[in-house]
Amino acid sequence: MLDQETVRNIFKGEFIGKEIYFLESTESTNDKALEIGKKREDSEGIVVVADSQTKGKGRLGRHWISPPGVNLYFSVILKPDIPPIEAPLITLAAAVAVSSVLRTWKGVPADIKWPNDIMIKGKKVGGILTEMRTSGNEIDLVVIGIGLNVNMPIGDLPEDIRSATTTLEIEKDAPSDRAGLLRGLLAGLDNAYKNLLNGNKRALINGWLSLNCTIGNRVIVRDSNRTITGIAENIGQNGELIVKLESGGTEVVNAGDVTILKN
Ligand code: BTN
Repeated sequence: MLDQETVRNIFKGEFIGKEIYFLESTESTNDKALEIGKKREDSEGIVVVADSQTKGKGRLGRHWISPPGVNLYFSVILKPDIPPIEAPLITLAAAVAVSSVLRTWKGVPADIKWPNDIMIKGKKVGGILTEMRTSGNEIDLVVIGIGLNVNMPIGDLPEDIRSATTTLEIEKDAPSDRAGLLRGLLAGLDNAYKNLLNGNKRALINGWLSLNCTIGNRVIVRDSNRTITGIAENIGQNGELIVKLESGGTEVVNAGDVTILKN
């Protein structure tokens, strides 16, 4: 069970978890976190957790299916002192933290599809939506929203995405305790954020590379106005995807959706 009592004191890290709000149902925990972040100067480290969302948001304007009683949906407010151009690194750090926690706590072979889809054996188990507010060249606020399919019956999803999706229950053949998992994830995120602020970008990128399932593969990348096909060659120093095109050139992609082509 996720409830107010359990969630409120579930974790207090150096940065993350200074206050944890629990909502039975909300439109989107990211929207709630953005609202709190706008109102409060001292909002860094506040976490918003919901048992269900009525307008859960995915990347690229998609909807994130968020039924009650089964999954994790939460958002963390951060105020990092880094330039906005480096903000994608926060999402990479979060993806590294989530897949590492799933590996060590749940023993599942989780990895990352660029930029931050959490996968198990080629199927999506979770996603991260980062939203940022800036003034000039400064970050006012970053909200990291994480959704993880835990014990959801796969039939709760629309038919067209079922075969590309998995849940921890399917992978472990047993339901997981959502509260324990939430505690582990917040601890992993706190640690990842600390490392990011310490400025070791190379270590972060190496951590991401060691957990990713994208680089080295033939991929199709779709963004809002183009589709490119090539070999995913590397990521840039701020997390951009570098694709070697079949025509010989190289493209740098900042946002989009990757399909990994089987050789
Ligand atoms: C994706 O498209 O892969 C990102 C999904 C992110 C979903 C989470 S659930 C908690 C938070 N609140 C939202 O509305 N979205 C994120």
